[in-house]
Amino acid sequence: MKNNKNTSKLLKRLFSDYVKKHYSKLIISMFCMIIVAAATALNAWMMQPVLDEIFINKNRTLIIIIPIAIIIIAIVKGLASYFQSIFMSFIGYKLVADIQNQMFKSAVRCDLSYHNQINSGTLVSRFIADVGSLSRGVHNVIINIIKDSLTFIFLVGVMFYHDAKLAFIALFIFPVAIYPIRRIGKRLRKISKNTQVGFGLLTSKLSESFSAIKTIKAFNSENFESKRIDKEIFNIFDLTYKSTKVNSIARPLMEIISGLAIGGIIFIGGSQVIQDQTTPGTFFSFLTALLMAYQPIKSLASLNATLQIAMASAERVFEIIDKKTLIKESKFPKDNDLNLNLKNNIRISKMSFKYPNSTKLILKNINLEIHNGERIALVGYSGAGKTTLMNLLPRFFDPSKGKIEIGGVDIKELSFNFLRDYFSLVSQEIVLFDETIKYNICYGAKMYSDKDLKNACSKAHCSEFINKFPKGFNEVVGENGTRLSGGQKQRIAIARAFIRNSPFLLLDEATSSLDSKSEKKIQDSLDKLISNKTSLIIAHRLSTVMDADRIIIMNNGEIVDVGKHSSLIKSSKIYKHLHELQFKKNEKNF
Ligand SMILES: Nc1ncnc2c1ncn2[C@@H]1O[C@H](COP(=O)(O)OP(=O)(O)OP(=O)(O)O)[C@@H](O)[C@H]1O
Ligand SMILES: [Mg+2]
Repeated sequence: MKNNKNTSKLLKRLFSDYVKKHYSKLIISMFCMIIVAAATALNAWMMQPVLDEIFINKNRTLIIIIPIAIIIIAIVKGLASYFQSIFMSFIGYKLVADIQNQMFKSAVRCDLSYHNQINSGTLVSRFIADVGSLSRGVHNVIINIIKDSLTFIFLVGVMFYHDAKLAFIALFIFPVAIYPIRRIGKRLRKISKNTQVGFGLLTSKLSESFSAIKTIKAFNSENFESKRIDKEIFNIFDLTYKSTKVNSIARPLMEIISGLAIGGIIFIGGSQVIQDQTTPGTFFSFLTALLMAYQPIKSLASLNATLQIAMASAERVFEIIDKKTLIKESKFPKDNDLNLNLKNNIRISKMSFKYPNSTKLILKNINLEIHNGERIALVGYSGAGKTTLMNLLPRFFDPSKGKIEIGGVDIKELSFNFLRDYFSLVSQEIVLFDETIKYNICYGAKMYSDKDLKNACSKAHCSEFINKFPKGFNEVVGENGTRLSGGQKQRIAIARAFIRNSPFLLLDEATSSLDSKSEKKIQDSLDKLISNKTSLIIAHRLSTVMDADRIIIMNNGEIVDVGKHSSLIKSSKIYKHLHELQFKKNEKNF
């Protein structure tokens, strides 16, 4: 029962959101469908004059008229079915395009926490496999459901016209057929759900394997990976085969039921002809209409299966479209209320944070004021919560308690546009698009000239290596920048931040160490980038820490010490320890 309710709800939504707007095309195709259905019924009806007048009465006029009529009907039916098919296809494919578009828009807007939970392969498979099955379903359903129903109604009309009593008997059998069809539909929906989940797993495991190809080779685990993928492939084979097995019951079942009906009708109708109660032409026309009526019913029966599979996909597709974000943009942003000249530009007060779907507090009662133009270094052991704290400033997540203000305004009151422009983030892992160097450097920048681009590159020490590429700026960097070295990627990320030119720089230093020459270059570009800006830098390198105006020491999600290098080296146990660790490491390196 719930399934049916869902199906009709989903269909209603598909219709009102995606189909209704093409009403002119819809009306023309409906009109064409009526013509197709009527032409089919007319063919059945013609059996009567063909038999009675031509074969029995040997009427010489009708032998010319009826074949001509049949040809004309065929031409009209052909034209009508062509137009209804192209218009309906347009509506069907447009629906798919609209849905994919909306899905992507909604998916990219979803909170980071949602994306952290959902596997990217699962998302991709919803775009490809689910929308594909929805498309097939919708396409078949909207084309066939109306056409088949109309054809059926017209043919039943012919049957009633000839013999109402026989028609009643013939129709009695249909409701008997509906029950098993509904049951089959339900099972198919369940299997299809599992199949799509399987496709999601396969997609994600495939993309994971291919992106980890180097690790796989290094660990000599090709066979292990093949077995892992095999499991998923076999699972899908199992489910699709099961679904075909269930689906295949529908047709023979209908054949048997229709066989029974036709047998009965021939017995009753034949007896009437023998007793001269009706003409052979009338009976054959009735029988033709009945035989033809089973065709659309059979197709409607398998349609239910397609529909159920499509609706299972529609549910998952709408789940993404309807996904609510937790991080909401203020409806009336107070961007203009900002007083950026306030000395305490950013204030974090009594702020605690835990990741959604986790109970552990990652940040505990953080209080911090960052003054305009200050250079702050964030230092602490791995897992202390440094990156997490940084992610809260551009609102990738919202604090669980407490608040963050810029110039006296809660960041929740600011527009995303303002907030995300205010901060420029160079994160721990640099992500590049498989596009040109220029595309990657200018990504997300709104206003820049070629001169700005050149400037940014030279300040970020990118120019030298870019010029060495045959295509220069137009060199494509490969998936996630595989054609660049680690240091080059970092410099691209810094050039990106130069182009954006935001007033506040968030820098999460990469943990991997570089050779001293590259490190010097990067340090130099960073110094240039930071000058005249406020900055919060998660520092893994000593040089960054030394120059900072203030060093914040974090431990287990809390700020434990604050000060300058000279005082912390005496007073802070953690800082002293970190300092020693790095000092030793550096000693070992040289
Ligand atoms: N998306 C997430 N969901 C749940 N927990 C997370 C998530 N990201 C990080 N954590 C947890 O939060 C804690 C702090 O992580 P964070 O990345 O802030 O550390 P960090 O100080 O930046 O460490 P590192 O110096 O190694 O980069 C860790 O214990 C980590 O397991
Ligand atoms: Mg980190």
